[in-house]
This record gives sequence, structure tokens and C-alpha cells, in this order.
Amino acid sequence: MMMPERSYLESVREVYADAAHAPQKKLCCTTSALGRLPGLTIPRAMSEMNYGCGVTVHPSDLRPHDTILYVGVGGGMEALQLAYFARRPGAVIAVDPVWPMLEKARSNFRAAAVENPWFDPNFIDLREGDALALPVDDASIDFAAQNCLFNIFTREHLARALSEMHRVLRPHGRLSLSDPIATRPIPAHLADDHRLRAECLSGALTYDEYLSAIVGAGFGTIEVRARAPYRVLDRARYGLDDHLLLESIEVVAIKDPVPADGPCIFTGATAVYFGGDEQFDDGRGHVVERDLPLPVCDKTAAALRVLGRGDLMVTESTYHYRGGGCC
Ligand SMILES: C[S@@+](CC[C@H](N)C(=O)[O-])C[C@H]1O[C@@H](n2cnc3c(N)ncnc32)[C@H](O)[C@@H]1O
Repeated sequence: MMMPERSYLESVREVYADAAHAPQKKLCCTTSALGRLPGLTIPRAMSEMNYGCGVTVHPSDLRPHDTILYVGVGGGMEALQLAYFARRPGAVIAVDPVWPMLEKARSNFRAAAVENPWFDPNFIDLREGDALALPVDDASIDFAAQNCLFNIFTREHLARALSEMHRVLRPHGRLSLSDPIATRPIPAHLADDHRLRAECLSGALTYDEYLSAIVGAGFGTIEVRARAPYRVLDRARYGLDDHLLLESIEVVAIKDPVPADGPCIFTGATAVYFGGDEQFDDGRGHVVERDLPLPVCDKTAAALRVLGRGDLMVTESTYHYRGGGCC
């Protein structure tokens, strides 16, 4: 994409410097539900700056002693939620290049310490830095997250940001992402609009493009956790032939090697065997116990469907994968 890179990244910084000074109600999904956790009070100033478009904090991904990285800290809500699980000094490294945003996050963490006796702002190591050149050592992170930032980047910058995440993660480390995606390609007159892009409205890729960017950075296992309607770019306001639905997607990408026959992408497709034997074995490493639903990756789902068995159902993707499964 031909876009003078300095000016679009500058627009992004301006938009988020403004959003740090005064909460912007319509920026991203400030109206989305807050992840409530027992004993966690989210300060009001922080909840008003919920600039994410989904959720990246999935407790089942977090293990004791994990080193956590959060890129694009915003008001700090998700970094605080991650600190809720980690509860030790420096456990969450939170990075942002926009100085007013870092300052705002810092003051929100101070407010959070007043409202949450278990929380110490030292749990979060706030660093000035850029997703395109992370101030983080190679292979030092167990769990990384970004919410509603990577969609802003051009394809070249997205590839760089994903490869930075891949660089800093340990082998088998997890990257949790939430971003808008587009149900069809966004036309150039919107994609090249710096302000719309900065506001997370016009940089979105399609589902296939988004996943292939993640695989292209070297992530061999991908879990699609959720997909939901986000915004409509309507014909009249955005100069389109037809309304264009944006969705928000939540994905966890795992730093496993990409298998020779392609990545394992779990989207909620499930195999259920209901035949006469105790189990069905496809002879290729997939054993489906009778009456026990087995989530399968898209590759395995396709291979099992081709068998055309009357006693094995392979459901469509739900885009709501919650763990477990074939490979
Ligand atoms: C849409 S907001 C999302 C904030 C937060 N993740 C949330 O869910 O509320 C994007 C955040 O990324 C930050 N940001 C902008 N450009 C960045 C970059 N190049 N690298 C890292 N963070 C960046 C902004 O300052 C802002 O805090």
C-alpha cells in the first residue's frame, strides 16, 4: 500500500495523545463490557478509556510466573487485569510510544492501587516504546497481547509488528490479539484516510488476510476465540457502493513451528463420532471417542469431511474455540 508512512504514524500519535487528555466515547469500543473479576475495581478514568475492540485477557492462557507483555497500553485496563493474575513486581511490561498516554496510564495505575489493596503499580513496568521496534529482549516473554492497535498498521508495518511479537516470545509463547476485521476489502479512499485508520475504522484486513499475516510471522497454531459485529461503514457516510460490516476478532497465536502442511487453525469446528465402535481412528493421529465432541483444526476438519462417513459429523466453524482438540 502506498502511504507516506511518517504522516500516518504521526496521525496515530496525535489521535491517541488527544484520547489520553480527554476520553473519546466513540473511539474503538469504549462501550464494550468490562471484564469483571472478583476483587478487581477498575477506576472510572480507566474504564472511560477502554479503547479495545474485544478481549485479550483469557485466564486459561496465563500461568503462574509468566512474564507478560502488553503493547499499546491505552488507559491500562487490560494491563491491570493481567497484573491481577500475575501480582508481582515487573510481571507485566506495558509499552506505548505516546507520552501523554503513558502518563495517563501511570496515573490510572495509581488510582487503581487506591481502590485495589492487592495491587501495586510496580507490578506493571511501563516502557516508552513502539510495537515496530519493541524495547524487549528476544525470547523473554511467555504471554503477549495487543488490543485494537495492529489493525491500524499498513501491511508492511503489521508484518513488522507481528514479527517483533514473535521475536520476543519464548518458544510456545502465546500472543493474544483483538482487532477489527472487514467482511470485504476496504477501498483505498478509506484505507488511505489517516484519521479513519488511526480510529480503527479503515485499516482492517479481511479474516483470511489477518490470519495469513499472523501465520506469515511464523505462528504455527492459531485459535480463533471470538468474532462479533463491530461497526458498519455505511454507504452514505463513507462513499461506498454498499454498507460494509466490520467485525471484531479475538485470536490467540502460539509460537509453534508452522507444520509443513500448513498452520493448525482452530475455529470451533468439532468432530462427533456416533458409530458402532468405541472410537473412530482415522489412522493419521486423530482418534474421536464415541459421543465425545472433539474440537479439530480446520485442516483436520477438511480431511475428516472428505471421508464422507455417515457416523461422523464434522460441524462448521463457530469462531468460538475454547481449547482442547485434535493436534
Ligand atoms: C486503540 S488504542 C488501544 C488501547 C488499549 N489496548 C485498550 O484496549 O484500551 C491504541 C493504543 O496503541 C498506542 N499506540 C499507537 N501507536 C503505537 C505504536 N506504534 N506502538 C505501540 N503502541 C502504539 C496508542 O497510544 C494507544 O494507547
